[in-house]
Amino acid sequence: MMRSESRVLQVNLDDDEFHTTVRNSLRQRPRAIPPKFFYDARGSELFDLICTTPEYYLTRTETGILDDFGADMAKRIGASCVLIELGSGSASKTPLLLQHLADDAAYVPIDIYEPHLLQSTQRLSMLFPEMRMHPLCADYTRLPSVKFDGYAGRRRVIFFPGSSIGNCTPDEAVQLLRHAAQLVGANGAMLIGVDSKKPPAMLNAAYNDAAGYTAAFNLNLLARMQRELGAQLDLDGFAHYAYYNAALGRIEMHLVSQKRQIIDLENEVFQFDEGETIHTENSYKYTVQEFQQLARAAGWHPKMLWSDREGLFNVHYLSLSANEPHHLPQQGR
Ligand code: AVJ
Repeated sequence: MMRSESRVLQVNLDDDEFHTTVRNSLRQRPRAIPPKFFYDARGSELFDLICTTPEYYLTRTETGILDDFGADMAKRIGASCVLIELGSGSASKTPLLLQHLADDAAYVPIDIYEPHLLQSTQRLSMLFPEMRMHPLCADYTRLPSVKFDGYAGRRRVIFFPGSSIGNCTPDEAVQLLRHAAQLVGANGAMLIGVDSKKPPAMLNAAYNDAAGYTAAFNLNLLARMQRELGAQLDLDGFAHYAYYNAALGRIEMHLVSQKRQIIDLENEVFQFDEGETIHTENSYKYTVQEFQQLARAAGWHPKMLWSDREGLFNVHYLSLSANEPHHLPQQGR
């Protein structure tokens, strides 16, 4: 029996948002477009390809951590919880956690791109036919507008893998973590994947893969402007640029104009000098201490953490209950 909802609830999506955002950000200096607009059909596909490259260690490493410690994580969060995944995408790592949950657990994936959401919920409900699933098509950067009151009485746990929290500035991250706390309510918890600070060479390589998927992912934003907004622009006149800004502890991605040129958006002309950029993404990297400090600032209590041997990536377990023990009591005997 399939318990999952085939209907996807639309929450806070605004059809015109891409248009309005692009227009407003092209009018400003410096020019910056939020990374959530990367994820149309082509962008989502390219992101999945990035995750398979040898340079992009994040997905591989986090998958290893979930594979090794998923059972421990399930014990911490409680096997009968309501697992709410933010930005579930193709949800390729999720089974590593779901397989350790009880049949009466529920899964609530939230993603901005509906086809992905439908596909992944379908695949997961084949793997876990007894588990209730309730997909929400929503923008998790606007979490307060996500109202969800299903499965009352069960512990709510946010699952936020992939180091997507890195897209936020530290201030925005504290805000998002606060909103996440409001969504789960008292006694709630969170499992969150966070990429570590490490030597710049390794970080720079991860965002400049040799196969060129990251470049294509970045440039797809311009192609999406052409497709969806009818923008007139020269795709070849822009180049992918990603580098680790050590002072700010973040990877920055930009689209760099290779010449003096214009983008025409509905007869509004935007001038670019050679070298002028559109800032398309930040990807902040945190030490364990730095991230725990952010979490505490948002009212969470860091209780546990799992990493790979090299400490490339961390999965933090955060609880809203201060008195929850750091160590689980041993079972049996
Ligand atoms: C999905 C935000 C975690 O920042 O590493 C990958 C997106 N951008 N390569 C990241 C991304 C370029 C990714 N996150």
